[in-house]
Amino acid sequence: MNEKIIKDIAKLKKEKDAVVLVHNYQLPEVQDIADYLGDSLDLSLKARTVENKVIVFCGVHFMAETAYILSPQKIVLLPDITSGCPLADTINKQDVINLKKKYKGVPVVGYINTSAEVKSEIDYCCTSANAVDVVSNIPYEKVIFLPDKYLGSFVKQNTKKDVILWHGYCPVHLKIMKDDILKLKEKYPDAKVMVHPECLLEVQEVADKIVGTSGMIKYVREHPEVKTFIVGTEIGMCYRLKKEFPDKEFIPASELAVCPDMKKNTLEKILYSLETLEPKVFVEEKIRIKALMSIERMYELRRVKTKV
Ligand code: 13P
Ligand code: SF4
Repeated sequence: MNEKIIKDIAKLKKEKDAVVLVHNYQLPEVQDIADYLGDSLDLSLKARTVENKVIVFCGVHFMAETAYILSPQKIVLLPDITSGCPLADTINKQDVINLKKKYKGVPVVGYINTSAEVKSEIDYCCTSANAVDVVSNIPYEKVIFLPDKYLGSFVKQNTKKDVILWHGYCPVHLKIMKDDILKLKEKYPDAKVMVHPECLLEVQEVADKIVGTSGMIKYVREHPEVKTFIVGTEIGMCYRLKKEFPDKEFIPASELAVCPDMKKNTLEKILYSLETLEPKVFVEEKIRIKALMSIERMYELRRVKTKV
């Protein structure tokens, strides 16, 4: 059954000049048909540089919106348009306006896990892969960081900045408990522990490495002597890591860390998207231009040289 769908997807991709971008948390069968697999930063860069007319974005809504913000001349499809992000939903545009009034003159750094409207009000965008670098390079002593308070606390601990936090969090990463990791460390004493900075601080404290999803791949590559890794993030990452490093063992820190929104894009929905060129993601031009500026500033601070 899947074989037929996979063949049809490949045929339609050619016919419609489409590329499939897939986040590291997507379903295994979706990861297997990816043209590019990556974290939110990798995928935003790819969305910008690929030459195809159509992008099928297998991730959640804010990621597809970011692809559109960077490449409005392309058709950006999100196979399941309802795939949102509860963390991104913890803040809206008015909340940012209120914060800017309360802390006049303090620059606002917003995680990529935010809506286009929120991005249109922030000064700098960042991802888990570059949050510390972006905040370190901002020429101000004090910054507002939103919406994730755990990533924000990680940034605060790793920069010399005074960081004002918003109270958002990712419910999926909060399923990972310190005790889960301590028990696994007893069972696998030689394993290294990698956790995402959206995890609770007490979970971060028992990790060998606190890093976003692309950083996890890098960390495994840099530790060829280690055979087993305990992985503190959304469960799809273990499949992604096993694809990259088939000889290593990846143990999920918690089987409960499943992001239901990330699992909504199925092969059937991808095929339907390619057949109909729906559902499309669109951002109003006035919002897009302002949101683009915050993303551009992120690239400038990270000195990533790409063309718009
Ligand atoms: P990455 O940018 O590390 O892939 O994370 C995105 C995300 O949604 C984490 O929950
Ligand atoms: Fe959002 Fe958390 Fe899902 Fe990532 S894992 S998309 S932050 S809800």
